[in-house]
Amino acid sequence: MVAVVLGQKSDLKNVKVLPFKKKRELVNYMKIVTKELGVKCSFCHIPNDYTSDKKANKVVAREMIKMTQSANSVLANLNFKEVSCWTCHRGNRHPERSPFEKS
Ligand code: HEC
Ligand code: HEC
Repeated sequence: MVAVVLGQKSDLKNVKVLPFKKKRELVNYMKIVTKELGVKCSFCHIPNDYTSDKKANKVVAREMIKMTQSANSVLANLNFKEVSCWTCHRGNRHPERSPFEKS
């Protein structure tokens, strides 16, 4: 997927999976994700270089976004509401493990 669709210019540089064209919309989403994981922007980003993919957490987060999008396409077919990072993470970096199985 590319960040520029139908000749529409975007002020975003390295956005491969999120659908946003406007920086303001993307940053609003980022603020929500930050709360859903209980982290700061610097958990995934090098301060002042948001386009960089050097932080492993950002690379993992991009895959998590893809996983969430694919879950949501299944849920949409069932007319169910969307899942988000919160669905699993509940404000934590590491989602809780099930207490019903041995690890
Ligand atoms: C859990 C990881 C994570 C956190 C926390 C996070 N981001 Fe991001 N951010 C990403 C990922 C992943 C992308 C790229 C998304 C894509 O490829 O579609 C991104 C992209 C961006 C971009 C686009 C840069 C470009 O390439 O043009 C900006 C700006 C940005 N984030 C700002 C923020 C701000 C501000 C915060 C804190 C409020 C924040 N992010 C918190 C993971 C994160
Ligand atoms: C279906 C459940 C689920 C959803 C939804 C989900 N995650 Fe995760 N995430 C996990 C699991 C499980 C792990 C691995 C945690 C572990 O083993 O400790 C993880 C780990 C991560 C990590 C690595 C944390 C670390 O410290 O290594 C990041 C970053 C992350 N998720 C970001 C996100 C973001 C951003 C979203 C929303 C776009 C998201 N996740 C949605 C289940 C989920």
